[in-house]
Amino acid sequence: MKILGIESSCDETAAAIVENGTHLICSVVASSKEFHEKTGGIVPEVAARKQVEAIVPVVEACLNQFAEKEGFPTITEAIAHIDSIAITVGPGLVGSLIVGVAAAKALALAWNKPLVPVNHLVGHIYANFVENPVEIQFPAVALLVSGGHTDLVLLRGHGDFEYIGGTLDDAAGESFDKTARLLGLSNYLGGVLLSKKAAECSKNDLAGKLPRPMLAEDNFDFSFSGLKTAVKRLVELQNPPADQVACEFETAVVDVLVGKTIKAAKKYNTKSLLMGGGVAANTQLRTRLAAEAKILGVDFFVPPISLCTDNAVYIAATAYFINKAKDFDEVNADPSLGIMDLA
Ligand code: KG4
Ligand code: ZN
Repeated sequence: MKILGIESSCDETAAAIVENGTHLICSVVASSKEFHEKTGGIVPEVAARKQVEAIVPVVEACLNQFAEKEGFPTITEAIAHIDSIAITVGPGLVGSLIVGVAAAKALALAWNKPLVPVNHLVGHIYANFVENPVEIQFPAVALLVSGGHTDLVLLRGHGDFEYIGGTLDDAAGESFDKTARLLGLSNYLGGVLLSKKAAECSKNDLAGKLPRPMLAEDNFDFSFSGLKTAVKRLVELQNPPADQVACEFETAVVDVLVGKTIKAAKKYNTKSLLMGGGVAANTQLRTRLAAEAKILGVDFFVPPISLCTDNAVYIAATAYFINKAKDFDEVNADPSLGIMDLA
C-alpha cells in the first residue's frame, strides 16, 4: 500500500510517499524557518501564508519524484498508484494545519482516494518504523521530544497508546531554543547550535551546578522552565564561558530525559524503547539513552536525524500502521482539526 503523506503543522511544508509504512519512496520538505529567524520567533500568520505558497509546489515535486523513481510515464499514472492520503490534523498552528488539511481534502475528492487523519506527535514516534529492518516489539515506551512537546507514551500495540507523563511547562526543545537565545547563539530554533557549543567544552567548572528538575519525583512528568531561569541567573551572576553553560544545560536536560525514560521502561517492563521528535537529533541524548537501554537489556530505536525533525514520511507511515491495526476499516475518515494532544 502506497500512501501520500502531507504535513503542514508548523513552519515545514512536506509531502512524501511511503510503501507499507516502511519503504520510503520519496520525500520533499520546504521550510519557512529563515522568515522566523528574522522575527526571533514564529509569527503564526506568516507561517500560514508560507504554507499556502509552498503546498502545491511541494506536493507536485513529490509526485514528480514518485513518477521518476517508479518509472511511471505520466503524473496521472503515478497518482493512480497512490492508495490513500494521510494528513496531519494536529497538534500545531491552526492556520498552518488548515492549509494542509484543505489541500489533502481537495486531492482526496479529486482523485477519489481515502483520506486518513494523523496526529503529528504519534507521527514522530512512527518515524522509528521507516526503513528499519528490525521488528519493533511491544510493549514499548516512547520518549517524544520536540519543540512544543515532551511526552512519555506507552505503546501496547499499533494505535494502542497510553500517555504516561509529559512536561508541565516548557518542552525540551523550547528550553534548548530559549537557552540558545539567552547565550546569543541563535534567535530561533537554536537547539542544534547550543548542542554544537556544548561539544566545544572540554572541562566544565559548572558540572552539577544546574538543577535536574523533577528527576527524583515518583512520576513521569517533566518541568524545564525553571532550568531556563537557572541558566539566566547563572549567566547574570557569573557570566561563565558559553560553552560551559551550554554543556551543563544540555547535560541537565539529558540527565532528566534519560532518567525518567529508563524509569518508565522499568516500570512497564518494556521490550523496546523508542525516541522521536526534533530533540531526538541531539547526539548526547541519542548516545546516553542507547547506552542505558543496553544496560537494561531493552532494544533501543531512534530515527535517522533526517526523520527526527518535521517531515511527511512519518505521517504516511503512521497512517499505514494505525489502519493496519484496524484492518483498514476506518480509512474513510473525514478529518477535522479535532485531534490534538496525546494527553
Ligand atoms: O519536532 P520538531 O522538528 O518540531 C516540532 O514538532 O516542534 O522539533 C524542533 C525542535 C526545536 O526546538 C529544535 O531546536 C530542536 O527540536 N532540535 C534540537 C536538535 N535538533 C533540533 N535540540 C537539541 N539538539 C539538537 N541536535
Ligand atoms: Zn514535530
